[in-house]
Amino acid sequence: MRLKEFLVEKLPEVDPELLPSRARIMGGVALIRLRPELDKLEEEIGRLLLEFYRVKAVYRIYGVTGIERRPMIKHLAGEGVKEIIHREYGCCFKLDLTRLMFCLGNSFERLRMAALTRDGEVVLDMFAGIGQFTIPIAVLSNPSKIYSIELNPEAYGYLLENIKLNGVEDKVQAILGDCVEIVPKKFRGIADRIIMGYFHGTMKALPAALSALKPIGGIIHFHELARRGSEERFVKHVIDEIESRGCLARLLNWRKVKSYSKTRNHIVIDLLVIRR
Ligand SMILES: C[S@@+](CC[C@H](N)C(=O)[O-])C[C@H]1O[C@@H](n2cnc3c(N)ncnc32)[C@H](O)[C@@H]1O
Repeated sequence: MRLKEFLVEKLPEVDPELLPSRARIMGGVALIRLRPELDKLEEEIGRLLLEFYRVKAVYRIYGVTGIERRPMIKHLAGEGVKEIIHREYGCCFKLDLTRLMFCLGNSFERLRMAALTRDGEVVLDMFAGIGQFTIPIAVLSNPSKIYSIELNPEAYGYLLENIKLNGVEDKVQAILGDCVEIVPKKFRGIADRIIMGYFHGTMKALPAALSALKPIGGIIHFHELARRGSEERFVKHVIDEIESRGCLARLLNWRKVKSYSKTRNHIVIDLLVIRR
């Protein structure tokens, strides 16, 4: 039986259109988005989800906020489990889901990054989070080194734990701090591949990323939100920005990672960048 059918049966007085059709399950915990019309029923829905999914806890998720992309989340039912281990493609990601974000919708992108990384590459993960890209690359591919920078001390703490949990201490160096400041000082000319896995201002970090490419150049994976239907214009804008800084940029690919809102998509642009 599907969640929607189950809820319609248990809550016959509620307009079925308002009821959610699925929750996200991570580490034995269900995360659900609910329409505001269901505010008064949220705890009851929480208990029903506990029964339906047989999970330890249910949380309501409202969205993410701020530079550090913190989740806005509320406990609805079950144990007060906060720290979970999510498993994906043979990788483990430990996190406090009430404090840090982990987007299940980016799952294919995580695998794609690991599949693209070639043997012996030096990878720079500028917005590392808890290791969403770093860990799959370290576990599933064979880079010579990954430098992973994270600004938020809490996320950095889990990044360190996830490096250990996945046994990739020899491949990954985690750095706590602001990549915009650190990269031009400490990581000049070292990277074959740079992941800029952030949005709401990735462009600000572009000069730092360019400074980190090897003299021969390399690949940048640039994430941002783009207005639906205007993605190609945005791609051109990014290429123009790179070329205005004295580099050559060739578009390898761009793809929609996920739909972000009614008007915007989260996209990633893969660029081959040659320094001149
Ligand atoms: C949206 S999360 C994404 C994590 C991961 N890259 C992904 O795409 O799944 C972005 C992370 O970048 C970090 N961050 C934001 N600005 C930063 C900066 N200037 N330097 C380093 N990390 C930064 C935030 O703290 C957050 O953990």
